[in-house]
Formats: sequence, structure tokens, C-alpha cells
Amino acid sequence: MSPRPLRIAPSILAADFGRLAEEVRAVEEAGADWIHVDVMDGHFVPNLTIGPVVVEAVRAATQLPLDVHLMIEAPELSLESYVAAGADTVGVHVETCPHLHRTLAQIREAGARASVVLNPATPAELIEPVLGDLDQVLVMTVNPGFGGQKFIEGGLDKIARIRRWIDERDLAIDLEVDGGIGPGTASRVVEAGANVLVAGTAIFRTPSYRDAIEGLRKEADAS
Ligand code: DX5
Ligand code: ZN
Repeated sequence: MSPRPLRIAPSILAADFGRLAEEVRAVEEAGADWIHVDVMDGHFVPNLTIGPVVVEAVRAATQLPLDVHLMIEAPELSLESYVAAGADTVGVHVETCPHLHRTLAQIREAGARASVVLNPATPAELIEPVLGDLDQVLVMTVNPGFGGQKFIEGGLDKIARIRRWIDERDLAIDLEVDGGIGPGTASRVVEAGANVLVAGTAIFRTPSYRDAIEGLRKEADAS
């Protein structure tokens, strides 16, 4: 199977929420491939962000696929409402899903791509049994909850291991990385095997979104 295309997914967590629709349109115009939406419940992670109502507003602002990252406990209770709001991909943390196989099937039945997310301290082995039942794996390279944190190096080995599994089994899975991605780390995660880069600070906290996105793409291409 040919390698899946590189995707840049700006995380709106670092955007100006007072001008959210404008910010989303700006990264779309600047060349983003997907929009990454961070949903936090104040329980699973120590921060609280948005719910389906805001996802719906983002959906109305852009044509780009919405990659919704659920950092919430018991995602099986509400994931359909994110799909109804316009999520194209729904990511659930393996740490929140005692019945992971069932929850991934639930996402697909609701009509979205199923993604599973791993915290930095969670071993890759936990998702190996469900690799045939999902569309995307997201490796966290910070502890989730906040933007602007430092990249955790241990993610590189995990990405490489999951990449090997995907290639050996010829699976059509995107391998995404989230946390501390920017100049310097983008090339290293792509070299390890990631093909989707989430970046908040490295895009929204720079003067030119276009330069930031092109810079990430160049760095990834050169790796
Ligand atoms: C962290 C979120 C990330 C965050 C990344 O919990 O999942 O998507 O926005 O921010 P940066 O790119 O600033 O590390
Ligand atoms: Zn995220």
C-alpha cells in the first residue's frame, strides 16, 4: 500500500476563540488539510473547552474535514452528538474506553472515521488488537489538556512501532501525532512514521499561518 498523504491539522485550541470562524477560515486559506478540534471535559484532563454546539459552528465555517479529539470520560455516551455536529473523524482515548472495540464500532456506525488516542505513558500494545477496526491512531507527545507544552521524546519509538504494524499488515490507517509539533519536531515524527501533524501554537501563535503551514510541510517533505 502506498504511504498515506501528509496532512497538516491546525489545532484550534491555540486560536482566538473570540474570532473562531474567522480563524478557521484563515487556516483553511493558508493551506491546512484538516481542522483539529480539542474537546475537554475537566475530568479526564484538567481543562474544559467546547462541546457539540461549537463543533457545529466550526463545521459551518469550513469545508475541511474536522478531526475531533475527545478528551472526555465515557465518550460512548456522547460521541454521536459530535458526528451529528459535523465531525468527520472522532478520536477516543484508549484510557477512557474499557470496551474499546465496541466504542470504535460505535463511531463508524455513527458515520465517522474511528480514531484511537494514546497518552504518552500508555503502551502501543494496548491498541494492537484493534488495528483492523479503526481508521486512525493518534499518538500524544504531550500530556493532554493544554497547548504549548514541550514535546515528549518517548513518542518517537511508539510512532515507529505503530508504523511497522501498519505497514506489515498493509492497513489503511492514518498515523497522527499531537503535542509540541513545530519546527524541529515535525521532521522527527514524520521520519518515525507519522503522516498527520497536529499543531496549535506552531501555527496560530505565529504572524503568518501560511508560512507556518508551508514550513511544516517543507520540513516533513525533507525528512
Ligand atoms: C493538547 C491538545 C493539542 C494541543 C496541541 O491536549 O490535544 O491538540 O492543541 O497544542 P500544541 O501544538 O501547542 O502543542
Ligand atoms: Zn488534540
